[in-house]
Amino acid sequence: MSERRRPIRIAPSILSADFARLADEVARLEEAGCDWIHVDVMDGHFVPNLTIGPMVVAALRRVSSVPLDVHLMIAEPDRYVAAFCEAGADVLTFHIEAAPDPIRTCEAIRARGVRAGIALRPATRLDRCAQALAAADLVLVMTVEPGFGGQPFMAAMLDKVAEAAVRWGRQADVEVDGGIDAETVVRCAAAGANVFVAGSYVFGHRDPAAAIRALREGAQRGRSEALALEHSVDEVEQTGP
Ligand code: DX5
Ligand code: ZN
Repeated sequence: MSERRRPIRIAPSILSADFARLADEVARLEEAGCDWIHVDVMDGHFVPNLTIGPMVVAALRRVSSVPLDVHLMIAEPDRYVAAFCEAGADVLTFHIEAAPDPIRTCEAIRARGVRAGIALRPATRLDRCAQALAAADLVLVMTVEPGFGGQPFMAAMLDKVAEAAVRWGRQADVEVDGGIDAETVVRCAAAGANVFVAGSYVFGHRDPAAAIRALREGAQRGRSEALALEHSVDEVEQTGP
């Protein structure tokens, strides 16, 4: 079972970075040991906030040597798939609530050699999008309402994370985003997530390397706890009546 688990990835979100010094912030995150860099794209329609577009992603691509995990929180994602893929996204995630034909959107992303992710707002149920999720390389379970960094973690999302991990965790990455810190990362990893986005926790820490280490250790601990539980259930089943 354990060898089928996907690798743990720590993906700091540059939403909490100093936007006047993005290249330095990327270098700082890479030195601090991040696996991916998470880039939050907001359009002022799908979410009330406005952030960055493909030009900034292209600029980040030139200064980053780790994969760019681009999270589109925009209406009409199909209109922008080509631009963000060309800008250098390695993973391109769109919201299912904004996509009329999510399987087609995944295919358009993958046809450009980019991994396709599907994100769900907290109110969106997994069973509403099971078919589409089977076509994705990554499932992003939002653990806050999308739009802003620094919001509290929604523990009610843990069941959704667990269900996503059971159904798609062998074929796709299961990512959590929002309110992730050294404590909530343990619970998300125990539920089966393997990609952890963290903005305010990493940038609010005086030592980003220590923050990333704490997230990685927390994720490993959560994963080990879940595995130990699975094994003890197996033993009970094997020795049971
Ligand atoms: C929220 C964004 C997140 C955000 C997370 O809409 O999708 O990626 O940066 O920020 P924290 O970690 O501060 O909750
Ligand atoms: Zn995000």
